[in-house]
Amino acid sequence: MNDKALVLGLYGSPRKGGNTELLLDEALTGAADAGVRTEAIRLCGLRVTPCTECLSCFNTGACVIDDDMQGLYPRLLEAEAVILASPIFFYGITAWAKAVVDRCQALWARKYVLHDPLLQGEKKRKGFFLSVGGTKGQRMFDGATLTVKYFFDAFNAAYAGELLFRGVDACGDIAKTPDALSQARAAGRNLAQDLRGSGR
Ligand SMILES: Cc1cc2nc3c(=O)[nH]c(=O)nc-3n(C[C@H](O)[C@H](O)[C@H](O)COP(=O)(O)O)c2cc1C
Repeated sequence: MNDKALVLGLYGSPRKGGNTELLLDEALTGAADAGVRTEAIRLCGLRVTPCTECLSCFNTGACVIDDDMQGLYPRLLEAEAVILASPIFFYGITAWAKAVVDRCQALWARKYVLHDPLLQGEKKRKGFFLSVGGTKGQRMFDGATLTVKYFFDAFNAAYAGELLFRGVDACGDIAKTPDALSQARAAGRNLAQDLRGSGR
């Protein structure tokens, strides 16, 4: 039994050594420095089928699809904080990340249809969003941030913050963006310190 709070990072990009991966690595390092347990999962390495809208979860709170999402549900519920790192793909998060989000309909059903006490009340979990887009569009993150806010809400995590970078396209170029990696490290450290401050 480990009594340290868990910060779970989700890599939403399929690109190894990519921009959101570098940001998430920094954030998790910052969190670990602040004394929490960290774990990271590469979503493109999982087999997660998109939601089939069978709505079985409205009766049971569980998803009937037998794939790697079954292992991810307990991790999301065990984590005190989840950091999702996804680049912008066509003004949203990647398909890897969106499949996981949609499968959280089962958690949404537990919370809002079945009123599971585990997902009610004050939001003690926290969620943080890291994202990067190649262009400089003013509204580039609008769709993604809304999706991610409601993703976090499905497992009763408060939206604790975000770091969003425009105009970063080539693999690894985030490292050339002044302060980006240090901001990510500080964000991870602050997130972990907030958890520890709240006794989690
Ligand atoms: C399928 C696809 C769709 C993309 N759509 C957008 C987009 O809508 N807006 C944008 O600014 N950049 C877009 N990009 C660029 C990525 O957001 C950018 O390259 C980012 O740095 C990738 O981050 P990563 O290295 O973490 O994968 C797209 C890239 C791909 C491969």
